[in-house]
Amino acid sequence: MGKAVVAVVGSAMMDLTAYAKLLPEPGQTLVGDLFTTGFGGKGANQAVIAAHCGAEVHFVGKLGRDLFGDSIAENFKRLGINSLHVGRSDIATGVAHIWVDGNGENRIIIIPGANSEIESAKAVAAIDSIDNLAVVIAQCEIKQEVTLAAFRAAKERGCTTILNPAPFQRLSSELLELTDWLIPNETEFRELHGELPSNDEILKSFRPGKNSIVTLGALGAVLIHADGTIEWIPAPVVNAVDTTGAGDAFVGTFAYGLASTMSPLASVKLGVNVASLTVTKKGAQSSYPTQAEIATLS
Ligand code: RIB
Repeated sequence: MGKAVVAVVGSAMMDLTAYAKLLPEPGQTLVGDLFTTGFGGKGANQAVIAAHCGAEVHFVGKLGRDLFGDSIAENFKRLGINSLHVGRSDIATGVAHIWVDGNGENRIIIIPGANSEIESAKAVAAIDSIDNLAVVIAQCEIKQEVTLAAFRAAKERGCTTILNPAPFQRLSSELLELTDWLIPNETEFRELHGELPSNDEILKSFRPGKNSIVTLGALGAVLIHADGTIEWIPAPVVNAVDTTGAGDAFVGTFAYGLASTMSPLASVKLGVNVASLTVTKKGAQSSYPTQAEIATLS
């Protein structure tokens, strides 16, 4: 079997994270426990975990001409992620301000910066040019028109498309049609569908005739096949210290699974196991397991 080839059209950010047992109320100042800077951005996180899994990964995105941009570019290089389609902008590299509380739950504000400068024509040219491309992933931290153009190009050449609708925004009907796998978390599912993913009837009515997966945090994930079959996949019990980037770990691992011709169910199981490991460590990409650790999972 050849290498699993995955392209990510998406965001790269520098994560500036404050850890505190309690988070402040409006007008309140609190003393925190730790501050970190780390590599993040939903797109880059998904690219990095797919690379850790063993995929050949191509990143399509934009960085600022600044120190954060330089160190993200260096990180991609170190990890063997193809960055031929990563442009530079005079706008600053995207940053995420993250607060993590004592239960490992986060609150995030992103400033997309250069991520908003990715151009549709460049994304299409990238998708058209990658040899043996199997899967194209996108999220919602870049302009939706860019994702739409990339997915049109991806479907024209027969690739599988995965959209992680995070952070939530209304999605055009054409983009939904071009999306083979839509992967929201519980909150995004409720924002898209109006109710929580609490039973099979609600899940079946989400996207009849199309595939979806809802990630459920500590509860695992639920796989909704296009024919209406539902499969609930539980997660192992772990001690969560920081959930940042866990959803991205799931999406990137799932994409690797599909690109390496694993079944959707096997890909979801691997994704849940990888994501569960990530919450036991702090940070987004800094919490991701190595290829050797992933090889011990199923
Ligand atoms: O999904 C987690 C990511 O969201 C963080 O790494 C942060 O950069 C934001 O994009």
